[in-house]
Amino acid sequence: MVVTHTIAELRECLRGVTGIVLVPTMGNLHQGHLDLVRIARQHGVFVVVSLFVNPLQFGLNEDYSKYPRTLEQDCKKLEQCGVDVVFAPSERDLYPQPQQVTVELPPVANELCGAFRPGHFRGVATVVLKLFNIVQPYIAVFGKKDYQQLYLMRQMTAQLNLPVDIIGGETVRASDGLALSSRNQYLNVAERAEAVFLYQSLAGMRLSIMDGVTDFFKLERQAREALSARGWRVDYVAIRSQANLAEPTASECNLVILAAAWLGQTRLIDNLEVLKERGAVPGRNLDL
Ligand code: PAJ
Repeated sequence: MVVTHTIAELRECLRGVTGIVLVPTMGNLHQGHLDLVRIARQHGVFVVVSLFVNPLQFGLNEDYSKYPRTLEQDCKKLEQCGVDVVFAPSERDLYPQPQQVTVELPPVANELCGAFRPGHFRGVATVVLKLFNIVQPYIAVFGKKDYQQLYLMRQMTAQLNLPVDIIGGETVRASDGLALSSRNQYLNVAERAEAVFLYQSLAGMRLSIMDGVTDFFKLERQAREALSARGWRVDYVAIRSQANLAEPTASECNLVILAAAWLGQTRLIDNLEVLKERGAVPGRNLDL
């Protein structure tokens, strides 16, 4: 495995290489990231992992400076996973001048997480587009853990005709159900025990939807209230359509429940896909 720190070094490494699969990350790797690497291995001959804490996607009062940076441990893990090249550029290398050219995303980028983190997805899309241009992968792998991010990356590649296929990896969870995240380590012991309630709330909502509940606003409100009552500060709990992240109609079958909430100083996000049985409406199943 070769570790590169500049665009020039990386280009040298990738000269003549085809079939590149890229896994973009901000480092501080856990099993969720490593699972994306495993998926990357299955799809291409040459796997590049980028490690870069991207200042462009952090708001002024967010955790950019305290975000954990663990290059050495990350490289050990990636070597064990059979990664070919690590790209860990400096901020100066990726942003030699103020980044004034950015990616304008569809309006849904300003909803859900985007409503609470203005400009966040513009920063994500801009750095990912730069990484695509630098690495030139034919496949890139993103996690469903960041569902809105994955959706927007698909929109960006489709609408800008980028020659990259986007693959989504399932969310990797701890044994109690909490989605793995670099930010989980900000939690103290009591908060870590409570954190699983976010997943449990979504799982409860999924059960209700599968049971035929179609008053989505009520389900969202109940979940928000339950979280608040336990001391969470809720940014949003939302039931959306998988296809476009818009508010669904009652008969929509492919749904996703998304949530973001603060536990103390830590903002956690999670989501669950829900596949409703088609044909719950009487009179529609005469051929069954
Ligand atoms: P980061 O938070 O490091 O995540 C890198 C990739 O790992 C993302 O695609 C994310 O969805 C995925 N991931 C994180 N936790 C996961 C889990 N528990 N299970 C499965 N996949 C998981 O997302 C970013 O970095 C940045 O925004 C980035 C795309 C690198 C742009 O800077």
